[in-house]
Amino acid sequence: MPPTPPDSHDDPKKPSSLRVLVLGGTGFIGRHAVAALHAGGAQVAIGSRHPERHEIAYPFAAMRLARFEQLLQPDAWSALLKDVDVVVNCVGILRQRPSESYDHVHHRAPAALALASATAGIRFIHTSALGLHEGAKSRFLSSKLLGERAIAASGSDYAIVRPSLLDGEGGFGARWLRGLSRSPVHGIPRAARGGIAAMTAADLGLAFAVLAALPSLAAHREVELGGTRRYGYAEYLRALRADYTGTRALQLPLPNWMARVGSHVCDVLHFSPFSYGHWILLQRDNVPRPNRLPELLGREPHAIGSNIPPEPALVRAGKIGPHDLPDTTASRSP
Ligand SMILES: NC(=O)c1ccc[n+]([C@@H]2O[C@H](COP(=O)([O-])OP(=O)(O)OC[C@H]3O[C@@H](n4cnc5c(N)ncnc54)[C@H](OP(=O)(O)O)[C@@H]3O)[C@@H](O)[C@H]2O)c1
Repeated sequence: MPPTPPDSHDDPKKPSSLRVLVLGGTGFIGRHAVAALHAGGAQVAIGSRHPERHEIAYPFAAMRLARFEQLLQPDAWSALLKDVDVVVNCVGILRQRPSESYDHVHHRAPAALALASATAGIRFIHTSALGLHEGAKSRFLSSKLLGERAIAASGSDYAIVRPSLLDGEGGFGARWLRGLSRSPVHGIPRAARGGIAAMTAADLGLAFAVLAALPSLAAHREVELGGTRRYGYAEYLRALRADYTGTRALQLPLPNWMARVGSHVCDVLHFSPFSYGHWILLQRDNVPRPNRLPELLGREPHAIGSNIPPEPALVRAGKIGPHDLPDTTASRSP
């Protein structure tokens, strides 16, 4: 039997027993997780580096200060994990910043969180990525792999979720790819042959809500998620473009050295979501094996496309809209 996806909108009169802390709940993935958890009736708290900036967008959630670079020991997590049944980690950085290293954010802080969760008896759902592998010469990727391994060794009741590339409103990478797709000329690196099972961020949010509601994560230690269709990179750009125009773009092959140098330049300049780690990922298949999304949702994943419903927090923050959305603004906090 597949787990039942949450389908009830929040009723302030209905007592809810599930208290969920979403770390990085203001980010692209986190916002969808928060929206789905809240719509399913969970009491949501959000961990952010800047809780005060996001209070207006999340009137229903308690905002808690969380800076991963300061949470490197299990004890440091105690206050954040108070009154929490499940913690969902959606924190990640594309590029390192002063005092925010890949090692701290992707590896050591999640490792400490997993140990703290084990001690406190809290279920731990961690966002990772497809395509991580031994020997990848990218600290972005290797730090994520180390994080996964530390969590698996922590003794916690954990689920490591590896989503495929995401499409949806408000995503940095999603926005760039859509922008690229509109260009009349697409440069396609020759070695960008990996498959992409792109999925919607909204479906990922729902999957998190389903996982969070499970009494145990023992049957979901490694959860790979994706859409039903496998795209090549060139084909994916064509599919995104088809949402805007019936005209075809000219797709030209790019030498690999150009893509590689370009990725390093982007890393140095902190420009665009294209990083050296992503150049490595583009050369490999990034499809879930097996894809557990249909099982979690109890239906087929939605196709990527421009008609994806936006999440309420973006609308409240004035970043998009107006749209016809369910009212999920009832005031509650854990
Ligand atoms: N987007 C995709 O297509 C995709 C696909 C597969 C996997 N992933 C992985 O999923 C993770 C999240 O991706 P995303 O697209 O949601 O990223 P995002 O939009 O940048 O969100 C990440 C959130 O993490 C929080 N954060 C950043 N640095 C932090 C720190 N030092 N301490 C505490 N919180 C911090 C930020 O929240 P505040 O600003 O509120 O602190 C930010 O909103 C990443 O690890 C990414 O690699 C993404």
